[in-house]
This record gives sequence, structure tokens and C-alpha cells, in this order.
Amino acid sequence: MPPGKGLAFLLAISLLAICVQNLEAQKNELKSMVYLSPKIPQHPGSVSKKYYYDIEFPKGHIAIKSFNAEVVDEAGDPVSLQETYLHHWITLRYYHRKDVEFNVNLGPDIIIAGNAGLCDHGLSQFFGLGSETRKTSTNIPDPYGIEVGNPLEVPAGYEEKWLFNIHAIDTRGTVDAMGCTECRCDLYNVTEDEYGQPLKPDYVGGIHCCYDGTQCKLKNGIKSIERNLYLRYTVKWVDWSDFIVPVQIFILDVTDPWQYTGIHDCLIEYDIEKSTTGVDTHDFTSTKRSIMILPIEGDVVYAVAHQHIGGKGSALYGEDGRIICSSAPIYGHGMSAGDEAGYIVGRSTCYPEPGTMRIAKGEALTVESNYSNEKRHTGVMGHFYILIANTSFNFNEPVQIHEELKTPFFFWGVVVSGLAICASVFVVSQRRNQNEDGYVSIAT
Ligand SMILES: *[C@@H]1O[C@H](CO)[C@@H](O)[C@H](O)[C@H]1NC(C)=O
Ligand SMILES: *[C@@H]1O[C@H](CO)[C@@H](O)[C@H](O)[C@H]1NC(C)=O
Ligand SMILES: *[C@@H]1O[C@H](CO)[C@@H](O)[C@H](O)[C@H]1NC(C)=O
Repeated sequence: MPPGKGLAFLLAISLLAICVQNLEAQKNELKSMVYLSPKIPQHPGSVSKKYYYDIEFPKGHIAIKSFNAEVVDEAGDPVSLQETYLHHWITLRYYHRKDVEFNVNLGPDIIIAGNAGLCDHGLSQFFGLGSETRKTSTNIPDPYGIEVGNPLEVPAGYEEKWLFNIHAIDTRGTVDAMGCTECRCDLYNVTEDEYGQPLKPDYVGGIHCCYDGTQCKLKNGIKSIERNLYLRYTVKWVDWSDFIVPVQIFILDVTDPWQYTGIHDCLIEYDIEKSTTGVDTHDFTSTKRSIMILPIEGDVVYAVAHQHIGGKGSALYGEDGRIICSSAPIYGHGMSAGDEAGYIVGRSTCYPEPGTMRIAKGEALTVESNYSNEKRHTGVMGHFYILIANTSFNFNEPVQIHEELKTPFFFWGVVVSGLAICASVFVVSQRRNQNEDGYVSIAT
């Protein structure tokens, strides 16, 4: 065979191989399961902020593709944020020593296996959102996934498990529902934190005033109607395979003082003071920024911010000023669950084209969080959740190699028809997968 044809033959063979590989990957069916958290008892003004260990979670060596959640009542009906404000839910991985009966004070028998960073304390969850959970996409596009359950990563003698922390505030019958959601200490009549330590005099609101068992101030004559709620969560996953590119989870916090102190001593929350100039300047925006560096380089696969009521938008910028992701809040307008007026019910997310949004080694990133300062806000947050594929894989590489070869027309004919066949088979199998998607088994 002349060299050109020999090369084309080889390429056709390898294209076929890639095609078959893709089909193999396609066969890796998307699985889905719906679970209920343990019962969350509520009464008007009550706060539940509990850890639930060993929650139900898919088993085996898998890649998580999405994690969605919402608060429901005993009938399984969605509960409005106007009744129960979901401050946050987070889920965290841990290793539990086998054959040791569980209790919270197990010390070395429980090892938290958190995300990739960056805060030294807290924000080590894999998944987590707040009131915006109903309308925030969490899908991770192919070929990526969050790898969990890899037996090689679990220390000998331990088992991988998952826990929830769920913070739900019942605002039915309260004098100031928004104040309750912002954990204003006066409304909770709280002067000590949950460990009995006195609060600083300038601490007027935040997570240290609305811990488990506290009570937000009710209007006179409110009857205590108790009820049980649940966090209903839906996990989608595929079995682990070599075709999946693992992503690492980072949560960046706008209160991270690293640029000044060299340590990631994140505060998690902060306050917004009421503007004194806004009326004159017609600008009620408070902007907070923080700079940090990831320990890895890689491609941004997904990004979303987290803010509380008053949030006007967040952005993550690269060192050259490019916008890596801008994530805007979606406010509700009505009364129904998922569209509650005045509440953040969702958030825009970022899905850069695979391989196009690269963070360089040692690149300084800026997190920006904007809030309205028309009113004062306490205990607000400015977090950025990002998924990074730490890989040198270059999506454009095959094309570049082809160009360098300067091959004859015949060669391209083989390549193009090979790609066309591969693409059509891919599309057909994608469609089939989508159809099947609606029928995957759902169990509670
Ligand atoms: C607030 O707490 C104090 C003690 O910490 C208590 O004496 C007082 O009765 C409480 N007020 C209300 C309205 O519950
Ligand atoms: C935040 O506010 C500043 C000042 O108004 C503005 O320049 C910036 O674009 C805003 N960022 C986002 C993410 O909305
Ligand atoms: C990330 O990728 C770089 C190469 O780009 C490699 O040197 C490094 O070890 C990787 N880090 C992790 C944590 O996998």
C-alpha cells in the first residue's frame, strides 16, 4: 500500500476503535434513585439544624452525575420556602471504622473525606445548596463525573459513608420571616452560641444565632402546629469506567482571608451594612472580593455561586480578568413552591465548552459577591462551587495531528465518512438513552 493509504487504513481502524469505545461508554446507563432524609420535626418558629450520619446513598464505585433536593411534607408535597426556609443542606463523605458502633464522639474511627478545598475549616461538602436548590442545575456533563466509592481510596478497615447537615427554619407565624431567615439574634433571643460561648456584642445575626433548637419570635396567639418534613433527594450516577474523566470539587469563599494572611481561615458568612450613600448615588450594591489560588491546574467543567436573600450576583475571574463564571440569582415571584416571592429559588450555572476554560497553574482567581445594601443583611454568604478536571487532555489534539500530516483527499474521505458513521451511531444511542431516561427506576 502507498504510505498515504496505509496511514488512512490505520486511522480508519483507530476511528472505529474510538467509535466502539464511545458506544461502550454510552452503554454505561444513567441510574437514578430518589431518597428521603430522616424526619425533620418542625413547629412555628422552630429551627432544625442536625447532622444525619450514614444516610442512604448509591453503593459501589460510581461517578455522580447530579444531586438534587427539595423539602417535602409527609404527603410528599413540596413545601414552600415561605413556610420552611431551607437555609442549607450539605452532604459530606466520611470513612467509618468497620465493626465500631457509631457515636458522634468516635474520634479517629470517623475520618471526614472532604472535597479538594480550599477552606481549612468547613465547606468540605461534596454537594450542597440552600433555598435555591429547586431551580439550580447540578448536572455534570459527559465525559465528567464525581468519582466516589473507589475501594482503593478507603483506608484499610474502614467503610465509606455519607452524612447530611440540614438547616431548616420554620417561619410560619413569625413576626419577621426574613429576619428569621437571616438569623437575627434579637429575634431568636440568643446571646450565646450553641456551645454556650457568649456572642461578641457586634454579632447581630448569622449561623451562631439560629442553631438547632432555637426559636424565632412568633406573633401573639400563634397555635403551634407541629409537622414532619423531609429532604427528598435525587442522585443520578453511572458505574465507574475508564471513559469517565474525574473532577475535583473546590468551594471558594469570598470571606477567605488568604491574600492577607496566607491561610484559608474562611468565615463562611458575613454582613452587609445598610448603605449611607445609595439614595444619592442611586446605587445599592455592596461588592466583596477575595483572591485565591487553586493547588491544581485544569479545566472548569461546572460552576455555580451560593448567596442569600439580597444577593445580586457573583462572578469568578481569572488573573487576566476573564470571566470564568458569572452566576446570577433567580428570585421567585409568587406563592408556590419553587417560585416564592422574595426568596432566591434558583441560580444560573456555568458549563464551559469542554476544554475551553482552563485555569493555569498558580493562577490568581478573584471571587466577587454583590449584595443589595438598600437594607442591612446579616449572615450572608458568597461561595463559589467549582468542578475542575485536572487533566492535560486536549480536546483539539486529534485535529492538530491530522493537519500536520498533510494527507491526500482519499485519506480525508475515509476520516470524514468514519466520523459521520460514528456520529450518527452516537446520536441514535444518545436518543435512545434520553428516552430510557424517563423510565429509570425510582424508589423511595
Ligand atoms: C430571652 O432570654 C432570657 C434569658 O436568656 C429570658 O430571661 C427571657 O425571658 C427571654 N425572652 C423571651 C421573649 O423569650
Ligand atoms: C458587581 O458590582 C460591580 C459594581 O457595581 C460590577 O462592576 C460588577 O460587574 C458586579 N458583578 C456581578 C457579578 O454582578
Ligand atoms: C494535576 O495535574 C498536574 C499536571 O497537570 C499534576 O502534576 C498533578 O500531580 C495533578 N494533581 C493532582 C492532585 O492530581
